[in-house]
Amino acid sequence: MKALDGVRILDFTHVQSGPTCTQLLAWFGADVIKVERPGVGDITRGQLQDIPKVDSLYFTMLNHNKRSITVDSKHPKGKEVIEALIQTCDVLVENFAPGALDRMGFTWERVHALNPRMIMASIKGFGPGPYEDCKVYENVAQCAGGSASTTGFDDGPPLVTGAQIGDSGTGLHLALGIVCALFQRNATGLGQKVSVAMQDGVLNLCRVKLRDQQRLAHGPLTEYPQYPHGTFGDAVPRAGNASGGGQPGWILKCKDWETDPNAYIYFICQAPVWEPICDVIGKPEWKTDPGYAKPAARLPKLKEIFDTIEHWTMTKDKFEAMDILNKYDIPCGPILSMKEIAEEQSLRDTGTVVEVDHPTRGKYLSVGNPIKMSASVSEVKRSPLLGEHTGEILRDVLRFDPARIAEIEASGAIGAPTRAAAE
Ligand code: COA
Repeated sequence: MKALDGVRILDFTHVQSGPTCTQLLAWFGADVIKVERPGVGDITRGQLQDIPKVDSLYFTMLNHNKRSITVDSKHPKGKEVIEALIQTCDVLVENFAPGALDRMGFTWERVHALNPRMIMASIKGFGPGPYEDCKVYENVAQCAGGSASTTGFDDGPPLVTGAQIGDSGTGLHLALGIVCALFQRNATGLGQKVSVAMQDGVLNLCRVKLRDQQRLAHGPLTEYPQYPHGTFGDAVPRAGNASGGGQPGWILKCKDWETDPNAYIYFICQAPVWEPICDVIGKPEWKTDPGYAKPAARLPKLKEIFDTIEHWTMTKDKFEAMDILNKYDIPCGPILSMKEIAEEQSLRDTGTVVEVDHPTRGKYLSVGNPIKMSASVSEVKRSPLLGEHTGEILRDVLRFDPARIAEIEASGAIGAPTRAAAE
């Protein structure tokens, strides 16, 4: 049994943010029916293709465990199919540009009238306000949500991060909203609208920077690299690799850093383990020296302290350094490359990195469900081919009779007849 067995999702999502959400719900057991435009499908099927005419990794890695039905939702017969799906499903998830679903004729009022129990969940770039009509992609959200202005080094431009906090982060927020709405529906019997704006999702993840914005009014941010010699303006500056919390940290070079771009370790000078740190790096005198012994005394000298620690880390490779530091409970983390992560056996063992087989692509690696539940274990099933389940959904989910299916097929609303995948 899976946690969301019996929940049926009408998945109108595309690209990354929405599909992240519905993939998570599918991993927890929901039956996710992905609606795609006949002949075209989710645009990511054809984006960043590494193998010609084969669904891209972009698509396959975001659409596991779903079924695909092709329907032209602007065609009158297509609308009939969508209406029947709305009446059958528990949740509609969409991340179209603002107004697109309304233009199709599926406003909240219409959806609610068709199925009062339906939860209608949406991702947009912005909430109500000056930018509410804008189309938004990942990096726009990172910039508007406060991530870019606080990422990078003080003497460089704002930077976006590789973690897809705008897209996947917002999908994750939406999944929580949907599950809460399903829970509330148990009591009320009614659905509701659930909305997450990507700007809001990113800001939620940048909460500590809004904290620092307010701390700035009361003096310099003493854990930031700008302290004590640099200057602070009236907005939170970029903090380089400084730790976002109360324990100072920095990225330090390890052995072979000259040739290996990932020969680095993140090192945290956690106060309770200051004495072992001094012993490990060969500075036992710092344990009692009043200029170094207490955290407050160290703050103005963090650059010098990390430079000294780096002299030690540069004599070890990142895994050796990790082994030594872990013996003393000194918090640290190797900078792992994607190659190292892909090859890491422990991530395979937990199902966090999985190998999936696909009928036209063959085997590929993906990220499995990072949320582990003891009584709802996720298995990662390959993404659907375009329209692979159109026939079975019309027949088995909507229970349309053969004459009605033939009529819909003849109308062109579901595209050319599709074949099941040869597996
Ligand atoms: N049948 C018929 N038409 C369909 C269809 C179907 N099955 N599925 C989609 N369409 C139509 C839509 O109705 C829309 O038509 P319209 O503009 O005439 O109303 C059209 O396809 C394009 O949809 P849109 O969402 O505007 O796609 P886009 O490629 O132009 O924009 C985004 C992409 C991501 C920028 C935009 O969808 C967006 O801003 N989404 C919200 C924020 C978001 O999730 N961004 C992150 C993406 S990872």
